[in-house]
Amino acid sequence: MAQDNIESTLHEDRQFPPSEAFLKTASLLSEQLDALYQKAEQDHEAFWAEIARQEIDWKQPFTQTLDDSNAPHYRWFPDGKLNVSYNCLDRQLEKNADKTAVIFEGEKGDVEHISYRELHRRVSILANALKAQGIGKGDRVIIYMPMITEAVVAMQACARIGAIHSVVFGGFSASSLKDRIEDTQAKLVITADGGFRGGKTVELKKTTDQALDSGCGSVEKVIVYQRTKHDVPMQAGRDIWWSDATSGQSEECEPEWMNAADPLFLLYTSGSTGKPKGIQHSCGGYLLNAITTMRWVFDIQDSDVFWCTADVGWITGHTYVAYGPLATGATQVIYEGVPTVPDAGRFWDICQRHGVTIFYTAPTAIRALMKVGDEIPNSYDLSKLRLLGTVGEPINPEAWMWYYNVIGQGRCPIADTWWQTETGAHMIAPVPGVTHAKPGSCTRPLPGIDAAIVNDEGEEITTANQGGYLVIRKPWPSMIQTIWGDDQRYKDTYWPYFGGKYYLAGDSARRDDVGFFWIMGRIDDVLNVSGHRLGTMEIESALVAHPLVAEAAVVGRPHDVKGEAVFAYVVLKGDRPEGGQDEELTKELRNWVGEQIGPIAKPDDIRYSDNLPKTRSGKIMRRLLRTIAKGEEITQDTSTLENESILLQLQGKA
Ligand code: WTA
Repeated sequence: MAQDNIESTLHEDRQFPPSEAFLKTASLLSEQLDALYQKAEQDHEAFWAEIARQEIDWKQPFTQTLDDSNAPHYRWFPDGKLNVSYNCLDRQLEKNADKTAVIFEGEKGDVEHISYRELHRRVSILANALKAQGIGKGDRVIIYMPMITEAVVAMQACARIGAIHSVVFGGFSASSLKDRIEDTQAKLVITADGGFRGGKTVELKKTTDQALDSGCGSVEKVIVYQRTKHDVPMQAGRDIWWSDATSGQSEECEPEWMNAADPLFLLYTSGSTGKPKGIQHSCGGYLLNAITTMRWVFDIQDSDVFWCTADVGWITGHTYVAYGPLATGATQVIYEGVPTVPDAGRFWDICQRHGVTIFYTAPTAIRALMKVGDEIPNSYDLSKLRLLGTVGEPINPEAWMWYYNVIGQGRCPIADTWWQTETGAHMIAPVPGVTHAKPGSCTRPLPGIDAAIVNDEGEEITTANQGGYLVIRKPWPSMIQTIWGDDQRYKDTYWPYFGGKYYLAGDSARRDDVGFFWIMGRIDDVLNVSGHRLGTMEIESALVAHPLVAEAAVVGRPHDVKGEAVFAYVVLKGDRPEGGQDEELTKELRNWVGEQIGPIAKPDDIRYSDNLPKTRSGKIMRRLLRTIAKGEEITQDTSTLENESILLQLQGKA
């Protein structure tokens, strides 16, 4: 019985080849994939140049593939000219004008099908409206919107006129919004009165006003889309309704032809310091890998209905909602709300009703939906699904197996995709018609991605299962260009070691005996307990495999003898023990972890809480947990916490 539950990634060696059903229509098989790897190996630049010529419609073809004269500020296809919006919309019009580009579903159940022709029309009109407000090439535009089609329209409209967008997730506070506006010096903000999320109205305009009231002198205009239609104050001279701004604007908007290495967007992400970094992405290289990964990892085909559940406030919502699906002419679902409104069947209901064939979400969502049991997904028809994806954090094997068996019904390969805001697109991921996936592993680097695991000296680690730094040794098209306004921080953060030659991802990883990559956690999340390296994720995975445990987060705390001790925060599937104490259970869980990984990994402390502290994007705030584990005063900003009330439980004070 206990044996059945041993699902820690350390022991994981089950392999899942693609199903017969998937192989019937898979477009990339091992022969073609081998050829891609071979070409990339022979000549890295020629490989990317050839694909860039095939996949992108260039206004002016490039003659140089890679300019590395100012490395690590690499410039891909530097003398090529293109427009990203043209590549996403205009070029679909010839064959696919009437094809559905977007199936939008609001949280309250409103549904709209938008064709490529209609999306092109809306984008062109808004692009002209932006120009009429004085926005042009290189200007920064903040987009602070609900997860509705118009958010994508706004991004595409910016891309069309060469303005640099910076999307701020609708769940961020006024002060986060203000920081981003000030760092970008944006001239214009596109927002909405509000959005519907979690059964509530999210007050976007109100929050925008708060941000603008506290500074943000660069902002001249605010365009406000009416979504909720509740009353919001409009400031004369500054605020304009979207409908007024677009009224009378032409449906034709000649795209601004951009250099491939011009910036397309900035997206802020947290670093190891408190100040978020504005990750800058390019037009040409970024678009290229958005397209290649749609093909290689998602096997996107004309008949697919693709659904990436990420919000456009995150990189996943950029590459796999706003750009990748459109650039490949796909039909995609956009859903405004949360997975649990009106109940935990919402995702499966949407999959059934819209005939979703490719579904891409985060492990945190999978675990949450797994928690409510199989009955709900089993009551929906999920037979159209042919491929499942996951992203954002390591997926524990238990959740992987549930996703595979219950959602995918053993028929759908799972693409566990490792990448980052900085990498722009998938870097390490299975190719679903080829890879024999293992639960919890993101498998192999994609063609043209030279990912490796190295030691402190930058030497590749070849011993199986020995952990090290995850690096990328050759530049790739969709790579981060710089941190906006801070070239030095870009160099210091990502190219600090190995003679500045390798991109440092900030994750540690190991490769197993077949060469598959296993992400162990962020570099700062690796514990060293009595000289043994332990991935916090591995201990979490073990805890979560226990039948009573729903979620777990593990951090290190300093320990006199062992160097570091293991501190675990645990969320149970049932009720939290009274007062947060249960000695019997604590003993059982310690032994459980001991059995699965080894006595060394047994948590020294276990604390029970109703939830884990997460950012609004669902990432566990580990730094906060480390502070609490150390018994230190909380000095970090907890304002982005969705659930601030659990702080006392985590501190053992409630
Ligand atoms: C983690 C999200 C394990 C990793 C696209 C990375 C993952 C960070 C995976 C980037 C995965 C992302 N398996 N870990 N499949 N995908 N991560 O910038 O630590 O929000 O460095 O980008 O998430 O997070 P970001």
